[in-house]
Amino acid sequence: MATNITFHAGSVDGPERARLLSQKGVTIWFTGLSASGKSTIACALEQHLLHLKKFCYRLDGDNIRFGLNKDLGFDEKSRNENIRRIGEVSKLFADSCCICATAFISPYRADRAVARELHEQAGLGFVEVFIDAPLNVVEQRDPKGLYKKARAGEIKDFTGISAPYEAPEKPEVHIKTDECDVTEAVRRITAYLEENKYI
Ligand code: PPS
Repeated sequence: MATNITFHAGSVDGPERARLLSQKGVTIWFTGLSASGKSTIACALEQHLLHLKKFCYRLDGDNIRFGLNKDLGFDEKSRNENIRRIGEVSKLFADSCCICATAFISPYRADRAVARELHEQAGLGFVEVFIDAPLNVVEQRDPKGLYKKARAGEIKDFTGISAPYEAPEKPEVHIKTDECDVTEAVRRITAYLEENKYI
């Protein structure tokens, strides 16, 4: 635990930064089961927003676990810490006026609530996007063969099989990926951002 530390505010505050950069920061927090489509939709959204000349950056569960969070596993405590760190990192991105798209399973409601609170306390937007696909659908997709391994007992604490997933109760955007394609998902999230004056 750090002691004797002092917070240094910059010379440019949040509203002025947003005015100078002509962009408001916001985190678009994707949550859903493995293979639900989080990463695919987050990638397509990032590409779409960049083509609109918006400053956007994606943080993806698998990728972050190669670096920043390579010390973490998948037990409950590790996932809590994974999401705590991503809540903090995405808040910094949003504070820099970036549209930060995070694609993590983030299975625990309480962890997502902490990330939301962190943003809202700092006056930053937080848009929870539930990528909703039923277990039987994601298990059939199984692009990485992980569900098969989890069923065989080769992976422990696997979300949906041997570890919980707590679905959002009131996400800002709810996408059912067995009923909505990637283009339509990007269109709906973009429409939300426009309606709420983020872009
Ligand atoms: S979490 O729950 O938010 O901490 O998980 P996350 O950082 O998003 O990492 C999920 C990706 O890790 C792979 N993987 C597992 N997922 C779930 N449970 C277990 N036990 C597990 N082991 C490895 C898997 O590729 C997940 O990627 P996605 O993109 O979700 O399929």
